[in-house]
Amino acid sequence: MLDGHSSDRKFIPCYLIGQLGKSDTISEKIGSFLLDDAMETVRQCHDSLGGRFALLDAVSHPKVIAFYEENLFFPIEDSETDSENIRMIRPFFDL
Ligand SMILES: CC(C)(COP(=O)(O)OP(=O)(O)OC[C@H]1O[C@@H](n2cnc3c(N)ncnc32)[C@H](O)[C@@H]1OP(=O)(O)O)[C@@H](O)C(=O)NCCC(=O)NCCS
Repeated sequence: MLDGHSSDRKFIPCYLIGQLGKSDTISEKIGSFLLDDAMETVRQCHDSLGGRFALLDAVSHPKVIAFYEENLFFPIEDSETDSENIRMIRPFFDL
């Protein structure tokens, strides 16, 4: 019951963070900085429009999933499937 109201709801509006990623030439750990910057824009939209979740499609690799989990996202799909990507969401409890 992700939307908090109904267990049979098929669609829930989310803020999509699309194509977050850094250049292969950058070795410094800047991922959290990039994500924080994106989430600040989401927070500003949330202040005006509301909503409950940010959504992204992460590369389905344990290290990438761990990165997003450290940044408060969690998977809403099974990472054992063959898909190259895994959908993850972050609730807005902390915004
Ligand atoms: C996820 C990301 C933002 C994290 O950035 P960061 O905090 O600076 O950390 P790093 O880039 O060092 O990545 C953390 C670890 O994940 C690994 N990793 C990152 N992307 C990976 C990928 N696509 N496949 C496999 N491993 C990956 C890194 O090699 C690193 O491993 P290490 O800790 O053993 O050195 C950044 O790695 C990134 O942009 N990755 C590419 C994401 C991508 O492929 N996007 C395209 C589809 S949306």
